[in-house]
Formats: sequence, C-alpha cells, structure tokens
Amino acid sequence: MEKEMEYTKQADAGHIKEFGQYFTNYDAARFMVKWACESADTVLDPAAGNSIFLTYAREENEKCRLTGYEIDKSILDYFGNPAGVHLINDDYLMQGWTDKYDAIICNPPYNRFQAVGNREQILQMIEKYTGIKYSGYTNLYILFLLKSLYQLSDTGRLAYIIPTEFFNSKYGIPIKEKLIRERLLKCIINFKNDQNIFFHATTTCCIMLIDRTPKEYVSFYNLDKISELENIDVHGQEKGMAIKYADLDPEEKWRIYISHERKKEYSNLKQVSGFCSVSRGIATGDNHFFCLSKTRIKELSLPEEAFSKCICKSADVKRRVFRYSDFCRLANEDKVVYLLDVKGLDDKALSEYINEGEERKIHKKYLLSHRHPWYSMEQKPAAPIWVSSACRGRIKFIRNLAGVKSLTTFHSIFINREYENDIDIIFCYFLTPLAQEIIRQNRKKLGNGLDKFQPNDLMTAQMLDISLISEEDKKDILDLYESIKEDNDEKNIGLLNDIFKKYLCEK
Ligand SMILES: C[S@@+](CC[C@H](N)C(=O)[O-])C[C@H]1O[C@@H](n2cnc3c(N)ncnc32)[C@H](O)[C@@H]1O
Repeated sequence: MEKEMEYTKQADAGHIKEFGQYFTNYDAARFMVKWACESADTVLDPAAGNSIFLTYAREENEKCRLTGYEIDKSILDYFGNPAGVHLINDDYLMQGWTDKYDAIICNPPYNRFQAVGNREQILQMIEKYTGIKYSGYTNLYILFLLKSLYQLSDTGRLAYIIPTEFFNSKYGIPIKEKLIRERLLKCIINFKNDQNIFFHATTTCCIMLIDRTPKEYVSFYNLDKISELENIDVHGQEKGMAIKYADLDPEEKWRIYISHERKKEYSNLKQVSGFCSVSRGIATGDNHFFCLSKTRIKELSLPEEAFSKCICKSADVKRRVFRYSDFCRLANEDKVVYLLDVKGLDDKALSEYINEGEERKIHKKYLLSHRHPWYSMEQKPAAPIWVSSACRGRIKFIRNLAGVKSLTTFHSIFINREYENDIDIIFCYFLTPLAQEIIRQNRKKLGNGLDKFQPNDLMTAQMLDISLISEEDKKDILDLYESIKEDNDEKNIGLLNDIFKKYLCEK
C-alpha cells in the first residue's frame, strides 16, 4: 500500500476527510473481487479512487467490461487509470441510474450526508428510483449501497466494505428491511480489530456479500485478522453463524450477530423509559465563547449573574457523587465551569463581550444563527443524574447533588414522578456491572472501543424493574450509597451488584 500511503501523506488532511479517501486493504479487496467478478460480464466500482477493485477485476476476468466512478479529479490524476477502464469523473449518486451490472464492488465514502451540498437532489433521486425516502441524517455509504442494489443485475453479485454502525442504528432500518424482504444478504464478515483495516482511519468495518439467489439464512463471520478471509469458502458449506431470515428483525440491533455476542437472558427487565427520561445536555454552539473560568470572567469584568454553574468536560468530574464542594474546588482551580446565560444586556462589559462575538462572526455559526437572540442559551434544568454520552469501558453515571448544569458531555437523566423517591436506588443500580452490561446491548459502537449512546439508546435500553426491590434490600442499597458518597471504593459496587443480581437472575 506504498502508493496509497504516499498519496495520503502529500494530500491535504481536510481533502481526504471531505471525500472519504480511505483505501481498502489489498487482501480484503482481492477477496471481494474474487467472489463478485467470478462470472461477470460487466463490473462497476462506484468509488474508484486508486482503482484497486478494477485492477484486480481485470486480473480475475480478462473479458469483462469495467466501469468506475470517481468524483475527485485530483485522486484520478495521482493514480491514473491503471486498469484502462471506463472511468467517469463524476458523482456516482447523480449518474447512470438505469445501468445494470453483474458485479458491483465498492468501498464508499463514510461521510455524514449532512455535509453534502446537493443533498436534496440526491434524496429526490433515491426516492424516485428505489421508493425509499431517506432523511438528511443518514450516511453517504447507505445511499451508495441503495443505488448499487438498484443497479445490480438479476444474476449479479455485490461486495461492499462498510462500517457496521447502520446495523445498530435507526437510519439503517429501511435498508435492513429491504435486505431481509428481498433475501439479498448472503453473508456479513465483521472484522473485530477495527484499527487494522484502514491504515489511517479507525472505524468499525465489515464486508457484505449480496446476491439474488434464493436463500434461507445469512452467515455472520467475525474475524480477528484479514488473513482469516482465506479460510472462508463462500461457495462451500458455510461455517459462519447462520441466522434464518425469519429470525432477523430490521428494527432490532444486529450487534449480537455481527460480533457474535451472546445475549444473556435476565429476569424482571423493563424499558429504562418506564423509570426515567434521558435528554442531551446543553449545546452552546461555541464552547470557547460561552464557557469561561472564574479568572476570565473577572478579567472581562463580566457580571456573575450572567453565568450558570455548568460542567463543560466529563473529565472534570472524578467521583461518582458530585457535590457543591466539588464544584467550588473546580471553580477555585480556575476550571472552565461557568456558562454564559444572558438574561438582558444592561451591563456595559457584557454588551461589549457580545459585540466582540459578533465581530468574530460567532453569531453566523449554525446553531447560533437559529437562536433569538443568538447569544441566548438553551434553558435546561440541572439533572439529578448524569451519564457520559461516550465512554470506553465503564459507563460513567454521576449523581449530581450540586444542582449544576452540564453541556452535552453528559446526558441528563430525570426520574419519572412515581419513582422520585427511588432516585438513589436507581442511581446505585446504574453503577453496577450488571446494569451496564444490559444497557450496553443498546449501544452504537464506534471504532476503537468507544461506546456512544444517544439519549434514545438509553431510553430504549432495558433495566431492572425497580418496583420489585424489597424494603429490606432498599435499606442495604441506601447504606451502600452513603459509603459511595464518601469514597470511590470498588468493593461497594460489588456489593450493590450482588443485591441487584438476585432480582436479575431470578429463575
Ligand atoms: C473509501 S475511498 C475508496 C477508494 C478505493 N476504491 C479503495 O477501495 O481503496 C472512496 C472514494 O470515493 C470517492 N468519492 C467520494 N464521493 C463520491 C461520489 N459522490 N461519487 C463518486 N466517487 C466519490 C472519493 O474521492 C474516494 O476516492
């Protein structure tokens, strides 16, 4: 991959990101081409870049007609047209909708679709041809896949290398529905170690093989290394985890199949939303402008009343229970813990600060241009429990006793009225490894071990039905809570886990 590394070094990092120029490992590319092109007359790569798929396709099959699309002229100038194919320098999503191909092989750009300029036109085109209405919140690779499915000939084969997130996301549901309804999926080959697949990007990633032959089940493989592709015989007796089409639900997350995770069965579970609501923290639109430290506020002579106490970084909260004294310590250490929350502009220094923001064009930023006035802050109450929106390992739940607000670094958990008296019981439950394992089943995995939760992922996750806990156990839990307030001793969490386990593992 020397030439690809050289390209990546000399190109502008912003350019690479904008076009999603991350190159497929050669062995993975060879595997995809071998399967897809075996008996193809016509072959398409919708996102050619270095033309690796087209080059291999020519080697595999001398006679087939090869077509590639590539939107970026500069990458074509760099790599040329090594397979001597029909290479079209244009936007794949806008062109050639009625052309059909026997083999389609692709590593599409993985960019968020919101950043694409001609998004409305593309969405109209997708709906016109596929009948599927997509919102602008999807990802470009889904739209590439949809178009390619539409362009696959009746005897065709399609091999895509894409992130696995959509199998666990809301925006993936319509395409999963299509894949199941038309029984298109032959197998999904997941790579466990995300880092190894692309040399300069970390993402979850899998190879999807698709054709229109009648089939009863989908094979899920979960590989440690790319070299294990050699052992997969897609024609032979398949050895992956075989899941019947009838058992695949598009509305469910497919993580258990993709990563071969076994879902443990627990008792007495209910949806989190039955006990609490979860919403995102405050989005400022420009943290640098709106979040200040004590010294900075003094330097600018800004009035204290114009600020709310607010946690801006999850890392500032070290203990499981956050008290007012913890806030005062952060403020005295001059951490950024004050949020500009302007009620009126009757102060001269404040007016000057706002004017300075306008001079710096802050009011033109996306979020702020939609607020009136632009410097007004989202009004959200301080939540009694916070949970970090992304984490590695343990999910960080914090009991906020300080009445302090928080930015989006934490989601806010509010307890439903009928369970308000159980707030500390619920908090203690969330701290336990068992509760976290059950919640994790609803996460979206990002590459590199980072778990990301949207408020809705948490609301729709499962938790123990708190109403079943006996008064005696509640008393023990609250005693442990008192100890947790004082120190971070892991032993207490183990004891809590034992109490909740009785209910979760009840036969
Ligand atoms: C992930 S790279 C894949 C390159 C190569 N096929 C490989 O697998 O290593 C995706 C390529 O698609 C190109 N691209 C991005 N948007 C496109 C579009 N709308 N139409 C065609 N090509 C596009 C990018 O410039 C980039 O070269």
